[in-house]
Amino acid sequence: GKGAAMVTAVACRLVSQRKQIDEILASFELSKENLIEVKNKMRGELEYGLKKETHATATVKMLPTYVCGTPDGTEKGKFLALDLGGTNFRVLLVKIRSGRRKSVRMYNKIFAIPLEIMQGTGEELFDHIVQCIAEFLEYMGIKGACLPLGFTFSFPCRQASIDKGALVEWTKGFKATDCEGEDVVDMLREAIKRRNEFDLDIVAVVNDTVGTMMTCGYEDPNCEIGFIAGTGSNVCYMEEMKNIEIVEGTEGKMCINTEWGGFGDNGCIDSIRTKYDKEVDEGSLNPGKQRYEKMTSGMYLGEIVRQILIDLTKHGLLFRGQISESLRTRGIFETKFLSHIESDRLALLQVRRILQQLGLDSTCDDSIIVKEVCGAVSKRAAHLCGAGLAAIVEKKRENRNLEHLKITVGVDGTLYKLHPHFSGILRETVKEMAPQCDVTFMLSEDGSGKGAALITAVAKRLHNVGEN
Ligand code: GLC
Repeated sequence: GKGAAMVTAVACRLVSQRKQIDEILASFELSKENLIEVKNKMRGELEYGLKKETHATATVKMLPTYVCGTPDGTEKGKFLALDLGGTNFRVLLVKIRSGRRKSVRMYNKIFAIPLEIMQGTGEELFDHIVQCIAEFLEYMGIKGACLPLGFTFSFPCRQASIDKGALVEWTKGFKATDCEGEDVVDMLREAIKRRNEFDLDIVAVVNDTVGTMMTCGYEDPNCEIGFIAGTGSNVCYMEEMKNIEIVEGTEGKMCINTEWGGFGDNGCIDSIRTKYDKEVDEGSLNPGKQRYEKMTSGMYLGEIVRQILIDLTKHGLLFRGQISESLRTRGIFETKFLSHIESDRLALLQVRRILQQLGLDSTCDDSIIVKEVCGAVSKRAAHLCGAGLAAIVEKKRENRNLEHLKITVGVDGTLYKLHPHFSGILRETVKEMAPQCDVTFMLSEDGSGKGAALITAVAKRLHNVGEN
């Protein structure tokens, strides 16, 4: 009768809705073939970046860091470290002791960098940084000390020595004017001069991946790779000098900051990008740039989720078809929310509560779908990073002509540390994609601060400048 027909109609609609949702989720699934292709392409781009003829135009920039070894435990002294480029700006005082009672002690202060400063002028940005340093020195009572300083500056820098680095371009949430192409150490020195209140001995500019590798290398000499899965996504590793064509010399190794976030900027992974990835890219501060980073890092995963939710809502598949003001707001889904929503122990009711806090009124069905969307997006990110890392460890294995390589990767970043599934899927993927490598992941405790101090200590020792 009529009732039965209506039931059938509703059932049909539900089935078709489910089909639409499944199709969207499926576009985030990467097959084994897809991942092998990503690994091979990454490998190709790593080689382009190392070769003289292709270095300048390579999308994976492969920047030499002038860090030529991991710490050996003899580092010692008092250092200042700055950490710019993650969620916050930090100033640290690091005390390193060598010998049998080797230890690292740190004191730090966190400062927020207001949006208008991140995206204002370069002078304002560096004046703000120096203002924060002044407050820290005042607070610690060491304003006259002129300590050696390591600057962790987590953006691509073209270095000609350990204490020089020209910013290639801003990434993530930064867009201060008049900085690109300029030397960040010079900009910091000039800002210190402008303030004319204290002096600093700037010894090293360091990428956060390098700081992370060094921090883990302090405990484990097998650590020759540094990986950040946080606001941004990047890797560094120790490369044979003879393979780094743009640096003189063929002996020993040097750490290369890959800047793999730019992988795909030449379109080489466009076949696996979805329309949501394109929307996120177009709405970002640097359209067309950092395409791999935009599929894999904390700053963008929430944005991909938001784009999918908007689309689902438009199609009447979510939130009763109503696009709320908050759903229209860029950046509402931070990594911590994704991590929270995907936590297995969380009841759906709690997922609903989180969504409510974000201003999204959801039904129970809605919260199931949101959780599935988050899962698809973060799983793809872990798959992609795993395939990328597999390319790196395989390269290191081949460099050394080994049948089997045992290696440690130092890791930091909120996505890796806080997300309930990211790290597990990542490790599985590396195992599957690089079966001849035995990869250990080592969490870094505050790599940016400690690592910058260790690098500064090594640089100080090598250049024999002063003693503390
Ligand atoms: C971005 C930066 C890179 C940094 C990474 C992680 O990719 O370009 O230098 O290492 O974020 O913070």
